[in-house]
Amino acid sequence: MHTLTIAEAKAIDLAHLWHPYASIQNPPPVCFATSDHGTRITLDNGQELIDAISSWWCAAHGHRPEPIVEAIRRQSERLCHVMFGGFTHEPAAELASRLTNILPPGLDRIFLADSGSIAVECAVKMAVQYHYALGRPERSRLIALKGAYHGDTAGAMALSDPDGMHVLFQNVMPHHLFAEQPAIPFGGEWQDSDFASMEQLLDEHSGEVAAVIVEPLFQGGNAMWLYHPEYLRKLRQVCNQHGVLLIFDEIATGLGRTGRRFAFEHAGVLPDIITLGKILTGGCITLAAAIASSQVAQVISSRGSGAFMHGPTYMANPLACAAANASLQLLQDYDWQGNVRRIEAQLRSELTAYAGHPNVADVRCLGAIGVLELRHMPTAKQVLETVLSTGVWLRPFGNWVYAMPPFITTAAETTQITDAMKRLADLGWQNRDTPPVPPLDPILDIHE
Ligand SMILES: Cc1ncc(COP(=O)(O)O)c(C=O)c1O
Repeated sequence: MHTLTIAEAKAIDLAHLWHPYASIQNPPPVCFATSDHGTRITLDNGQELIDAISSWWCAAHGHRPEPIVEAIRRQSERLCHVMFGGFTHEPAAELASRLTNILPPGLDRIFLADSGSIAVECAVKMAVQYHYALGRPERSRLIALKGAYHGDTAGAMALSDPDGMHVLFQNVMPHHLFAEQPAIPFGGEWQDSDFASMEQLLDEHSGEVAAVIVEPLFQGGNAMWLYHPEYLRKLRQVCNQHGVLLIFDEIATGLGRTGRRFAFEHAGVLPDIITLGKILTGGCITLAAAIASSQVAQVISSRGSGAFMHGPTYMANPLACAAANASLQLLQDYDWQGNVRRIEAQLRSELTAYAGHPNVADVRCLGAIGVLELRHMPTAKQVLETVLSTGVWLRPFGNWVYAMPPFITTAAETTQITDAMKRLADLGWQNRDTPPVPPLDPILDIHE
């Protein structure tokens, strides 16, 4: 096949490719990326965009970091893939060793899955199989939070906000239980009433519940909401009382995004199972992990054959494991924590300056996360124009314009990002008298 011209590639994309959360009849505009490096994505016309959202929060060390690219290149010369059923290999073993070194003791049974959603599926299956092994097969439901996002596969959708973007599929999803979204923000004054709904669900249903799953502290993909760490402390306590497992989905928060290595560190409590993804491979290739405590793993393996029943084709792919090893090494090699502290301070001061803007309903910041909650959203066209005129890649959804930039973003770039966010707040305000078009789904709730 000859090398495509950019015009040919664009035509083929339009004719054949499905983009995330997109209609093929009325496709949203897409930018054409030709290369990426550091904080920047280069477009076909040569323009560079600062990636203010780390390409859906994964490219935390910037795009195409040399050590990760080099690790993939080196690995590709030896072993690209081998089924993990019946084989093992050095990159997977090294990754297990690296993960157990940074996780608290006891969280050490690692299942390497091929995406975040699949890691969530594995975590759910671990929890259900744990209770099955204990002779409690009736404990097969989960409790999740309203406002949650855990992925787009069926099991993960079923744990995401029940009124959110997956509502269309409710007849094919398992029906879990949902507690009210925690209302007290991170940094707010804790009141026990915020936990009442979760406590009541556990009191009434623990006999049928295998686990509670939450995104600790930061609900990302459905809510852009930061809640109080005390919620997690209470949750740990009450799960223990009821013999219910606790799953922390740290796919978005894990490995530095909130300023700590794991979000659970802000609360000082541990889960029984944790999921990781995104930053795990530094945005270069897909890999995720569901990691159980040895106690949970021992119980799972104590009944019948003891086999944990999951096994994807690309499990523990060596190229992805090599990328993850390099990404975790990067977290040791530069002062990401100092960088994130600096980015947080700057996001906080520059975004808080817009708190009095008539279109800004709330400002939330933690680590390398900055959110403006707006009263009126810009249109998709206005977002694209702003991206191109400011050179900052943003992808607002719901009522939120947010930044989750790479940890290597400079002070000048951070200001460019907050300026672009403010511009979107201005444009949204101009739309205040235009009735919003009902959202296709929350992710694309950018009015046409
Ligand atoms: C908390 C959380 N869980 C799971 C997922 C799903 O991960 P993936 O998109 O890799 O399937 C995401 C993705 O945004 C997420 O933020």
